[in-house]
Formats: sequence, C-alpha cells, structure tokens
Amino acid sequence: MTRSARVLLAGAAALAFASGTAHASAAAAQTSPQTQVPVAPAEPDWARPDSQMDAFIDDLLARMTLQEKIGQLTLLTSDWESTGPTMREGYKQDIAAGRVGAIFNAYTAAYTRELQEMAVEGTRLKIPLLFGYDVIHGHRTIFPISLGEAASWDLDAIETSARVSAQEATAEGIHWTFSPMVDVSRDARWGRMSEGAGEDVFLGSEIARARVRGYQGEDLGAVDTMLATAKHFAAYGAAQAGRDYHTVDISERTLRDVYLPPFKAAVDEGVATFMTAFNEYDGVPASGSKFLLTDVLRHEWGFDGFVVTDYTSINEMVPHGYSRDLAQAGEQALNAGVDMDMQGAVFMENLARSVEEGRVDTAKIDRAVRRVLEMKYRLGLFDDPYRYVDAAREKATLYKPEFLEAARDVARKSMVLLKNEGNVLPLAADAGRIAVIGPLADSKADMIGSWAAGGDRETRPVTVFEGIAARAGDGVSVEHAKGASYEFADAGKTDGFAEALALAERSDVIVAAMGEKWDMTGEAASRTTLDLPGNQQALLEALVATGKPVVLVLLSGRPNAIAWADENVPAILHAWYPGTQGGHAVADVLFGDYNPSGKLPVTFPRNVGQVPIHYDMKNTGRPIELGAPGAKYVSRYLNTPNDPLYRFGYGLSYTTFAYSPATLSAASMGPGGSITASATITNTGDRAGEEVVQLYVRDLVGSVTRPVQELKGFEKIMLEPGESRTVSFTLTPRDLAFTRADMSHGWEPGEFQLWIAPSSGAKASTPVTFTLTE
Ligand code: NOJ
Repeated sequence: MTRSARVLLAGAAALAFASGTAHASAAAAQTSPQTQVPVAPAEPDWARPDSQMDAFIDDLLARMTLQEKIGQLTLLTSDWESTGPTMREGYKQDIAAGRVGAIFNAYTAAYTRELQEMAVEGTRLKIPLLFGYDVIHGHRTIFPISLGEAASWDLDAIETSARVSAQEATAEGIHWTFSPMVDVSRDARWGRMSEGAGEDVFLGSEIARARVRGYQGEDLGAVDTMLATAKHFAAYGAAQAGRDYHTVDISERTLRDVYLPPFKAAVDEGVATFMTAFNEYDGVPASGSKFLLTDVLRHEWGFDGFVVTDYTSINEMVPHGYSRDLAQAGEQALNAGVDMDMQGAVFMENLARSVEEGRVDTAKIDRAVRRVLEMKYRLGLFDDPYRYVDAAREKATLYKPEFLEAARDVARKSMVLLKNEGNVLPLAADAGRIAVIGPLADSKADMIGSWAAGGDRETRPVTVFEGIAARAGDGVSVEHAKGASYEFADAGKTDGFAEALALAERSDVIVAAMGEKWDMTGEAASRTTLDLPGNQQALLEALVATGKPVVLVLLSGRPNAIAWADENVPAILHAWYPGTQGGHAVADVLFGDYNPSGKLPVTFPRNVGQVPIHYDMKNTGRPIELGAPGAKYVSRYLNTPNDPLYRFGYGLSYTTFAYSPATLSAASMGPGGSITASATITNTGDRAGEEVVQLYVRDLVGSVTRPVQELKGFEKIMLEPGESRTVSFTLTPRDLAFTRADMSHGWEPGEFQLWIAPSSGAKASTPVTFTLTE
C-alpha cells in the first residue's frame, strides 16, 4: 500500500462464524508459486557500495590486533546513569586501553569530547568511539511516551518527534539511539508496552518506519542525524503473563505474522542497527539465536547493519540454562550473529581465547568489526571524531522554542477522548472555579514518563495544573489539591481526602489527574492489576459523589482497567505521559483549543482477566455470537463480557463523523492486480476536527485460520463542519499475505470482507466483500 493511501480496514469479530461463505480451497491456495511474496533485499542509502570505505576498513582491519578488534565489539555504559543491573568499574581505563569501541549513557558536548579524546588521542589506532543512548521519546525536549505518540496515528508528527530528538541528541555528542522499540505488545501487564506502538502489526510497522526516517534522515553522514536501532529482536512483548524478561513461547507463525513485521519494516526503511531481546524464543535466548540473527535477519531480510545485544544479555544465557559459562555464551552469541556486546564484557574477557582455541572463526570477528567500523565511517567519525561535539551548537539547539512547540503539538495529538457524556468537555472559557485534583495533577516528574533520556524531571515539565492555570481565562479560579496517592502501599489511606473534597465542594468542575507513577511502566515495571494504584479509586468515587462534573485525565503508560470510571465519570481523557509541554497540551484539549483526534493503539480491557486481549483475535469454533445471550458452550466468560472496555482504534472528538458504506473499485482482483476501497466521511458536528479513518479486512477462510479483522490502512483527515471527503485505500494481494500452512509467506485466493470505519469492531459499518482470484 502506498504511503499516501495509508488507510486501513476495520474488522468485525461479530461476523465470525455464521458468515463463513465457502471459497477457494485452502489446499489449492497454499503454495502456488504466483502467490509467493518475494523477499525484497533491503537497500538503504547508507548501504550503497563505497569502495573508498572498503579500502579504508580493509587497511584498518589488517593493522588491528585481535584484542583491538574485540574492543570494537564492546559497548560499555558510563557511570552517569544506570539502565541495567550491573555497572563496570573503570570504563575510562577500558577506553584508554582500546578495549571498548562504544559508550552509552554519556552525553553533552563536553563529556563526549573528553571520552572521545581518550580514544582518539590515547589509543594506538585512534579509532573513534561511538556514543549511544536511549533517546526514546525526545532527548531534552520530551515528547509523549511512544505509546502515546502511537495514539496520534499521525506519522508526520511521529517522524517530527524523532527528528527533533536526533537534532538535540546529536548536538550533545550522541551518534546512535536505542530506538525505535518496535515490539508488538498485547499484554497490558507488561510495563514496556509504554515504549512501543501498541498491539497492531500494521500500525506498528508504519510507526517503525516513521521513527527510523526521523532519526536517520536522508543522510547518516549529516551531523544532525543518528543511527536508529530496531529493538528488541524478537518477540520480547510476548513475555508470559506480562512479566518482564519472562519466557516467550509462541508459534513460528505468530512470530512471523505478528511480532516480526515491524522489524522487517524497519529494515526496509534502512534502520542501521538491531538490538537483541532478553527473552528466549523457541528455547534459545535471542542473543544466541542463529535462527533470528542470521537466518531471518541476514539471509531472509538482507540486513546490512550491525547487531548489538541488550544489556548483559549474553551473560544471561547462563542463567537461561543455555550456556554453561560466559565463554560459551560469548561463542554462541557471536556465532549466532551478534556483532556487539552491550555491557556484559563477555566478548572483552573471553573471545580472544575462543578464537585461539578454534571455537570462533576470525572471519566472523572481522565481519562483525567491519560492520561496526562501517557505521563509524558512514557517520563521518574517521574524518572528524569531534564533528558531533560542538558546545556552541549544543547551546543553540537544546530546548529550541520550535522543539517545545512541536512537543506540545504531538502531545495534544496523542490524547484520546474516551468519554464525553453531556459534552462536559470542552470546558468553557468562563468555567468558573476549577479544581485540579490528584497525585498527577501537579507532578513534574511524572509528566515525562519513563525512558526520558536527558529530560529534566524537576523544573521544565509543565504540569496539568500549571497548564490549566495558564490557559484559564480571567475570572476563572484554578486550585489544586493532591488528595490521593498512587503508591501501591497507600491503598486504604485517606489522608488528603478531606482537603481535596473541600476544594471539590467549592468548585464548579473537577479535573481529576490520576493514573500511574511514571516508573510503573517501562522496563522491569510489570503489574498483575491494571487499576488505579494507591487510593486514587476511592478518591475518584468520593469526587463523583459530590455531584460536581468530573473530568478524569488519565496519565499512564498502559491501558488501565477503568470500568468504574467509564460507568460513572462523565468525561475521560487519556493523556499518557505527555512530555515537557504536557500540561499545556492537556489544557489545549480540555478547553477545546485543540479538538482531540487520538485513537487507541491498544485495546483497553474491562479487567485484567481479559488480558491478553487484542482486536485481531481469532474467531474460535464457538464464537459467542453463535449462542443465544448467556448460552453455555460458547467461548465466553461467566462474569465479564468478551468485548473490551474500549476498542483498538477508538477515540472521540468534540465533533461527530458519519461514514458512508464502503465501495469497491471491483468485485475481485487477480494476483497482479489491486482493488480500491472508498468511503465518504462527513463532519456532522459543528466544529472542525480530525478523524482517523481506518480500513479493516477479514480473510474468511485460509489454509490456517485468520484473524476476525486486520488493520490494513488508515488516513488522518481534517474536516470542517459539514464537509465531506472520500477516502480511498488501494490494496494489492501483497497486503493480504500471511504465513500459510506450509510456512511460506503469501496470499491465498478466496473471499475477503472489508470495512472502512472509525475504529476496530465497528459494527455500524457494513462490510463489503471481494474475491482474490488465482
Ligand atoms: C535495557 C533495555 O532493555 C534496552 O531497551 C535499553 O536500550 C538498554 N537497557 C540500554 O539502556
């Protein structure tokens, strides 16, 4: 599907069983050669042949000792910050001794210059260091967390965020970001859901591409672009029970159809590096998986960059029970396809002996070193190791007004209006007395979420209270009370309630800013419950009991189970962790200066027992629609509906949109053809607004069962009141490909249903049917 026709299909789980019109025989469809999707070798700009570079690296490699080569395969953290369980004393001595080729968690022009000087002035071959860092959603100017950005469904906005991140990070000496995190995640218990693009394969793939484009730009050699990293390869988001680092046990088909496509998209966009995952796949830790790192990544996809492990994940192959000791772990990792060891010093301490004793081939070391040196060369570091080290540029770049404005814009675009009963929102300019209550109402530290790179948590972030106070008109009083606590240990306490309730009583409207503490999502932040932690729920209930209108502004990095709020609170806005300018962005939406347009990139369950839940599930042989209400012997729960609280793709606006039924350009398409689906969307309200128009498809019968709906396109459009626009999506058979019964990748002839809709599961949209012919 072309970029301009980026719109999708909405599926309907409900259409499941009964509508199963017979079509093409699965057996005939499985392996016919014309339905194979050819593997397109990746040809990013940076990978273009460069004979001068090859000659330079040949010469350098020929002069390197084995230890110097291994040094290039070693990445160590500085002691500025800890992003993992171990620190290593003496990284500066390691740099000076040529034992390390790359450093992370070190930035600023001054500090990277100091360390670079040690490498360049102090080592025999003067090979410059590569500086990496977790620049995930902004470097100094912090944008919304990645899951929030995904909720914008605005690829230009997401690319802008990555572009600004690259401009700020490179101005502080960073060459390489450990982003984008492209792990599909379908389990809200897993804290790292906040770092990715949510549950969907298609949306996640498009966002992966946008982020790579933003970080790397057109030219890796430009001084304001940086290497991107697709992580964590692979299937990290499928951790059992949502517990971080836990075992992954999924079929190869699910791996290929759900977890790998965003990585492949990143390769196609030219991503320069990959990071392995902590988890095992099919019994093999990802850092030791030849299947993932060589067979898939190199041979199937033609990836040309280098692979770094995650933090000490080679070492962890020992407790995984895959390696008897570190030496063996290092050999297994290198032989599987790892190029660089992050923080574990396993290569540094063991690999030379492994080579000497013949368990690792020098050619493999040389190949890995070449890949690393090539990136240093492409960045221009051999021409000038200090080209990213410029204090004047640093000063002129950080927190530029246009960066702050971009962060505010992306933040308001990321917010999802979940409920707005009685049009409580937008707040009137003369809203009267506004009470801003809750542990997240005036908390700077929380506004920027986890993995906030060099972001300041103490002074710069604009809180919800500050944003509302700044926006409220003359004569509008805005007061704040914390009222409750989000700490798990404070459940049951009521200190602070009286003050908050007194404020509520003397106010005209209550904005309750509640959710999770910033570090309750991110790495090592899994939960077994999804409720509002601490005593927030009790306070929320007490606030609602005052009878005053309550607007719940939710700040968190995962779907929370907010069924009570959905039932009882008139207005709910999900603001994620919106970043440095977050409070202003919240105010923009609450007062209607920006009409909310975000849509959920992830399904919100009613309760944790529904997890994992995602929109593109399978129908089962006993779908609930098959039985009468309450029937036994169908696939359902006794105590909770199957439906989620809020569907993937869902989000309200201050205006309303009407969709015409979809029409198709033809009733069928052949293997070389295409089909265009169109629908007319009308703004039926009285405000201009943006709508994310979504295209969903269902493949009715396959050689293996197919999801009840799959997003295949989306387009975000702006409509004036009364305005209509026809949105079209063109699909080719390639867009309908999947891993077939024989494990080949391709499409199958047969019948498909298609919807153009405002969210997944939009039963309001009547599906149209087309046939894919042989
Ligand atoms: C561990 C995390 O899993 C990874 O995402 C991050 O890039 C590294 N630590 C480095 O901080």
